Amino acid sequence: MRKKIVAANWKMNLTLQEALTLCSEVSNMLNDEQTHQAEVLIAPPFVYLQSLKNLLGDSKIILSAQNCSEHAKGAYTGEISAAMLASVGAKYVIIGHSERRLYYLETHRQLEEKINRALENDLKVIFCCGETSEIRNKNEHIVFVQNQLAGSLFRLNQEAIQNIVIAYEPVWAIGTGKTATSQQAQEMHREIRNYLAQKYGDAIAKNLTILYGGSVNASNAAELFACPDVDGALVGGASLKSREFVEIVKAMK
Ligand code: PGA
Repeated sequence: MRKKIVAANWKMNLTLQEALTLCSEVSNMLNDEQTHQAEVLIAPPFVYLQSLKNLLGDSKIILSAQNCSEHAKGAYTGEISAAMLASVGAKYVIIGHSERRLYYLETHRQLEEKINRALENDLKVIFCCGETSEIRNKNEHIVFVQNQLAGSLFRLNQEAIQNIVIAYEPVWAIGTGKTATSQQAQEMHREIRNYLAQKYGDAIAKNLTILYGGSVNASNAAELFACPDVDGALVGGASLKSREFVEIVKAMK
């Protein structure tokens, strides 16, 4: 059985006090059964990781970063390394979010290096992929996503790929309130799994977790989670409200 994950991507939101409040509310509302059904991840801004780690104590909630440097260390002012993230208790890092690709011009090659740094530091990676509406309208979305996967992941060996979680996030669905239909999500998730199977074999592809992201909320989560190849969600806006996020986690049962 592959791992189910519901991950909160807080992006660049919240003050420290707001972050502590939201995290403790989520933690208090979830019971053991729910954190057993799905791994629950929170990806706060870097500067809150340590404080949230202290707050969470032995809670089952797992911390993730939203990005890391492609360099191991050194003179890269303003950057955060994978080793730093591991040292403050992060277990995952999101790499290749469409906002990073779009606003910070992150390339396939750069993302590949970020993934290498993350894996060297025993961090698991949530690797984001997804097409714009222009690409979907031209019916090139499947090839586009395949190229994103091949471009940054396919030099990983059979062992390393097992530390990657894929997040399919169509750009047109992120923050727009316009979620993909469950058919659109399932179609792409199946294509992603088949493509990974061609490269790494069926057994590995069957065990890879593929998340959907893009306007997931408490009302549409259950339908998305019912798709056979949708193994959870990467949640932006709706993860900033404790009750809404917890309802999404509960939809996983
Ligand atoms: P959204 O963001 O849920 O606000 O659409 C998802 C994401 O960008 O990960």
